[in-house]
Amino acid sequence: MTGHINLQLGWPSPSLFPASQLLEGASNVLTSPKKTASSLIYGPDAGYEPLRRSIAKWLTSVYGRGSELSFDRICVNNGASGNLDNVLARFTDPGYTRTIWMVEPCYFLACPIFMDNGFQGMMKGVPEDDEGLDIEYLRRGLEESSKDTTPHNSTRKTGDRYKKLYRHIIYCVPTFSNPSAKTMSLRRRQELIRLARQYDALVVTDDVYDVLRWPAEKDASPDQLGDVPPRLVDVDRTLDGGPKDEWGNAMSNGSFSKIIAPGVRVGWAEGTPAFSLALSTVGATRSGGCPSHMTASFVHELLETGSLQKHLKENVIPTFRARYYAILKAIDEYLVPLGMQISTGKPYHELSDQTNGNSNGHHDPVEQAGGYFIWILLPTALAGKGAALAAKGLKDYDLKFAYGDMMQVQGEPASAERASKGYGHGIRLSWAWHTEQEIVEGVQRLATLVKEAINEAQP
Ligand SMILES: Cc1ncc(COP(=O)(O)O)c(C=O)c1O
Repeated sequence: MTGHINLQLGWPSPSLFPASQLLEGASNVLTSPKKTASSLIYGPDAGYEPLRRSIAKWLTSVYGRGSELSFDRICVNNGASGNLDNVLARFTDPGYTRTIWMVEPCYFLACPIFMDNGFQGMMKGVPEDDEGLDIEYLRRGLEESSKDTTPHNSTRKTGDRYKKLYRHIIYCVPTFSNPSAKTMSLRRRQELIRLARQYDALVVTDDVYDVLRWPAEKDASPDQLGDVPPRLVDVDRTLDGGPKDEWGNAMSNGSFSKIIAPGVRVGWAEGTPAFSLALSTVGATRSGGCPSHMTASFVHELLETGSLQKHLKENVIPTFRARYYAILKAIDEYLVPLGMQISTGKPYHELSDQTNGNSNGHHDPVEQAGGYFIWILLPTALAGKGAALAAKGLKDYDLKFAYGDMMQVQGEPASAERASKGYGHGIRLSWAWHTEQEIVEGVQRLATLVKEAINEAQP
């Protein structure tokens, strides 16, 4: 036994922190009087401009597909979580906005952010399907809500400061989702944007895992991967002639937490230029300037010199890739024989080919895998026992993992009901924190736990 094993933790292991690159970045800034002066002062509302520019350049190379993303689409902030809070503060009001739709199983730590903004009891789950979300379920929900004649205009957010409020928020993690590991198909992304435009909804996506990807096949080369799936904000930028109005119907939360280290607390938001400008003027930012300003100036050095991209390519991705194969092999060896199954939806490359209407025989060559998580289903005998199993795992095997019931949309009885019939039977494992050897031992402990529970469940 190697002690405590935490397969719940979605944190990168400290051995992957680019400490020397950060030190060099900090030193580049702090040994230059000019850079120091602009780094240690209150930051501009939209963030350290060199970083906004280097993020725009980097995102252009990742998602641009030939078009340039202008830096005025980007504002810098302190991470995806803080940014979600800012979006709600700036663009919603519980008296005006009707519903928060969350793809379920959901990233459970987003629920309190919605609740803090007055949306307790107004959050509703949208079941995930193999292509990312049940779009017809959402369509029906939006339609029904539009028939509701209860006045929803009692907003206190009036006047010039709040030029735009949205009627609905749709929140999801479309690529390598936390928790389900699914990636939404291109077709669903397009349908979702069209729906959002029709019902005055803002699609908010946490795009924090997208660049951490590798071939699902062990022997394939990373060069064989197709393009990174477009973010919903890219789809809104380009679909049917571009955004419906100056605000758009999608925004992206980006973060350096998963690709540098969570403690740097630097992230960014991307939307239309008008959206990003309004977002960067939330009250606390107007008063204190962009949060994490000094660290943002260090992060810029890493991006501008390419040292972050090199670190990801040569260190982070190969490490996660090796751990991914290790966990897959261990699941296959120890859990599948017990009736557990991996469930990560349909492969993106197949679906995107179909929905692109590729008639020229072109296929993205290999299936992609990535992110931090894998989602597996408990054997039928243990359906609904995730919480009890997790408690026993911690007590008897010093093993931690996340289970489906944690991922309910808080405060929605229908979401709890759906959990009991479906996604509640899942458990989420992460490869981000532990070494390959520890991961395999964690899976072995889980197998012993599950075996024991199956025996106990037998009459
Ligand atoms: C989907 C999702 N959003 C947001 C976060 C937190 O991001 P940040 O550290 O940038 O606030 C996480 C971290 O686990 C996450 O998985």
